[in-house]
Amino acid sequence: QLPSVRDTRGRALHDLRISVTDRCNFRCVYCMPKEIFGRDFAFLPRELLLTFEEIVRVARAGIAHGVRKLRLTGGEPLLRRDIEELVRMLAALRSPEGERLDIAVTTNGSALAHKAAALREAGLNRVTVSVDSLDDATFRAMNDVDFPLQRVLDGIRVAGEVGFDAIKINTVVKRGLNDGDVVAIAERFKGTGATVRFIEFMDVGTTNGWNLEQVVPSAEIIARIDAVHPLEPVPPAYPGETATRWRYRDGSGEVGAISSVTAPFCGACSRARLSADGKLFTCLFAARGHDLRALLRGGCSDAELEDALVGIWAKRDDHYSEIRSAQTQRPTERIEMSYIGG
Ligand code: GTP
Ligand code: 5AD
Ligand code: SF4
Ligand code: SF4
Repeated sequence: QLPSVRDTRGRALHDLRISVTDRCNFRCVYCMPKEIFGRDFAFLPRELLLTFEEIVRVARAGIAHGVRKLRLTGGEPLLRRDIEELVRMLAALRSPEGERLDIAVTTNGSALAHKAAALREAGLNRVTVSVDSLDDATFRAMNDVDFPLQRVLDGIRVAGEVGFDAIKINTVVKRGLNDGDVVAIAERFKGTGATVRFIEFMDVGTTNGWNLEQVVPSAEIIARIDAVHPLEPVPPAYPGETATRWRYRDGSGEVGAISSVTAPFCGACSRARLSADGKLFTCLFAARGHDLRALLRGGCSDAELEDALVGIWAKRDDHYSEIRSAQTQRPTERIEMSYIGG
């Protein structure tokens, strides 16, 4: 059995985040602002998207070199036609030790009520659903397509009923927009078995108008919840976990905070990202990816694909979130969140 490949900082490859489409039915203000992602925005044409077979080949190559977690992202992954078939194909894969992989989806929840049962049946382990507010007007303003909160809450309820191994809720906090909703969101999911993670608004891409004043530091968020519902820290589930974890002292579950701005977690970052058109990115903040589609469509063998992957990871030196604060100017060339799936 092959040891997991290490990058130049000694970090193993463990997660493969697979974007299956760059399209989304939401226009979240922090991710796909309408002024940019309007009617004539050029999304990827279908023929440039990796097929399910091509995605599975890349996943298999990753698994041979350490990947144990697969996360489907977008855009909105549930918009990809027959997504449950891809889940079924990925669920059939095994690690070199013969174990199943951990397969998760990060979704906006708009189609979850509809799709949860089929996804579970196909072998999906976990779902993470974005919920930015429990106030319907704020929710609609943040998705910016007037999508009603209740339909997402219905999706989460159905996801609970079909019995996923875990449900997480992602809340991106933007000061002045939804920071007043933090305690209400924590309370809504406290005791339900779902874990809410509050995410610092990040400077991903170049179009979301990010500035530091709009970031609510995780420490502030956790303090606000702790003041009402006392918390205690929980050790990370795995090295390089995105979220720091806290448990309610009354035993009613956990909350998390993802502090990529105030407390970067690049040190053990084990995530590679595959874009919908087959480019491999070794960091969320990379300017450019490595074109695996050309290899795949050029008829490469599995060994050649693995060599390419190992070569890319072995050269990796990314640690953007750690150096962001030292930079006086933000990079101007950088991929968008909706393209690479967060
Ligand atoms: P788990 O498997 O449940 O730990 O999921 P996850 O936290 O890895 O994935 P999820 O899609 O829920 O990501 C949550 C938030 O963390 C999103 O805002 C992501 O963009 C952000 N995030 C995930 N991975 C990274 C990363 O490697 N770097 C940075 N800076 N942010 C990340
Ligand atoms: N900052 C932080 N999180 C973001 N997401 C999208 N854009 C940003 C941003 N600028 C989150 C989504 C989703 C996850 C994949 O990434 O809300 O939960
Ligand atoms: Fe779509 Fe998710 Fe981006 Fe919102 S954050 S626009 S739901 S991809
Ligand atoms: Fe990993 Fe890059 Fe995020 Fe750091 S900034 S945690 S290296 S993806």
